[in-house]
Amino acid sequence: MADEELIPVFDRLVGSDSIERNRLGEKSLLPETAYQVVHDESLLDGNARLNLATFVTTWMDDHANRLYAESYDKNMIDKDEYPSTASVEEHCWRILADLWHAPSVENAIGCSTTGSSEACMLGGLAFKRRWQHARRAAGKSTEKPNLIMSSAVQVCWEKFCNYFDVEARYVPVSEEHPVLDGHDLEKYVDENTIGVVVIMGQTYIGAYEPVQKVADALDAIQASTGLDIPIHVDGASGAMIAPFLQPELEWDFRVPRVHSISTSAHKYGAVYPGLGWVVWRDLDALPDDLIFRVSYLGGSMPTFALNFSRPGAQVLLQYYAFLRLGHEGFRAMQGGSRAVAEHLSSKIAEMGPFKLRSTGSDIPVFAWELDSSVERNWNLYHLSDRLRMRGWLVPTYPMPPDLEEILVQRVVVRADFSRDMADKLLNDIAAEVDYLEKLESPMPVEGQTPHFAH
Ligand SMILES: Cc1ncc(COP(=O)(O)O)c(C=O)c1O
Repeated sequence: MADEELIPVFDRLVGSDSIERNRLGEKSLLPETAYQVVHDESLLDGNARLNLATFVTTWMDDHANRLYAESYDKNMIDKDEYPSTASVEEHCWRILADLWHAPSVENAIGCSTTGSSEACMLGGLAFKRRWQHARRAAGKSTEKPNLIMSSAVQVCWEKFCNYFDVEARYVPVSEEHPVLDGHDLEKYVDENTIGVVVIMGQTYIGAYEPVQKVADALDAIQASTGLDIPIHVDGASGAMIAPFLQPELEWDFRVPRVHSISTSAHKYGAVYPGLGWVVWRDLDALPDDLIFRVSYLGGSMPTFALNFSRPGAQVLLQYYAFLRLGHEGFRAMQGGSRAVAEHLSSKIAEMGPFKLRSTGSDIPVFAWELDSSVERNWNLYHLSDRLRMRGWLVPTYPMPPDLEEILVQRVVVRADFSRDMADKLLNDIAAEVDYLEKLESPMPVEGQTPHFAH
């Protein structure tokens, strides 16, 4: 037995100064030592299950975990080498095309992505290219494309506009119009508008934007100007909630103006981080010159993606979740999360100092602010800090531009957040509010920064 193997694991960590942090070390470490260093370093992270800031899946069952361990070495782009994974990818986006009421699942087209951000960028690129083709065909300029969205969009849309040279036109949110609802849309649309983004499950408060109302406003604009503007639904969270909890709500391909829909599989699609989906209603909505072909079973397969290599395991996990849960299971799982969210929000409203901005009735996400009619010695950042001491990660952040003076706190309820855990959180919030309300002098406010980036 080698000498090193006789030394207990923790004694091998000669001292943190012997470990290279920002430079490749000259010498190798034993695997146990390297494991322990990385493992210990990650102990300082928050506990994912207590992270109520994240929308992203923090739990899958043992069968999914087994499948993940069996498939972490598969590369999604190697369609020829992993043809079964490639066909599972197609099953998944066709399942979604059907779930989102594509007029013909045969005629729909879709793909997997690394998450909603990439899926949204692909949706935006299809809009831009379609608009460019139409403008060139009409002999018009393609210099100044613009995209219309709420000022409360997720940052991926800002990135899309920045990276792909599209002007972002923000419709400001207000107390009267907390979400994009079609009001005044005619002031933003012109012949250079490539599309409108409608969010199903706005990040700040979890509310749905009314897709049908926005489509109605665009119909009226078309009737008066002839401009035919398409909608992309950013259903990062809501596209995997609405089909199960609000099946009567027409937000998807039932609305003819909806050309494309994206979602994060790793949010309410119940898959670990690293997967999103985008589906177009038909082949006309996705210009062919954006598609690349990779070899597949002696022929070629169309692909549309920003990445080349990326993990294939999550695609298998998505298929597992679809098979395992079916409509029945998704209804039960999402319904359970919504029941916990509504229970939590109603109890938080009863505590006294808080005013709800949403209740968790759309997606199981809700936000609240501090009642500003009373002068207090504390703010929501202090409450977040106190909760963090008990292990809970409950973010505080300002509302989007135009409402940014309002601070809110938000909870995202996921499938692994039980009613029992929710009651523990409620007890802890009540105890900390009691502590803060009894303070006789103000808490310091220096260095307070938002806990969540949208
Ligand atoms: C509405 C919306 N769009 C896009 C995104 C980006 O999603 P992802 O983290 O999957 O890239 C999010 C993430 O929270 C979101 O809420």
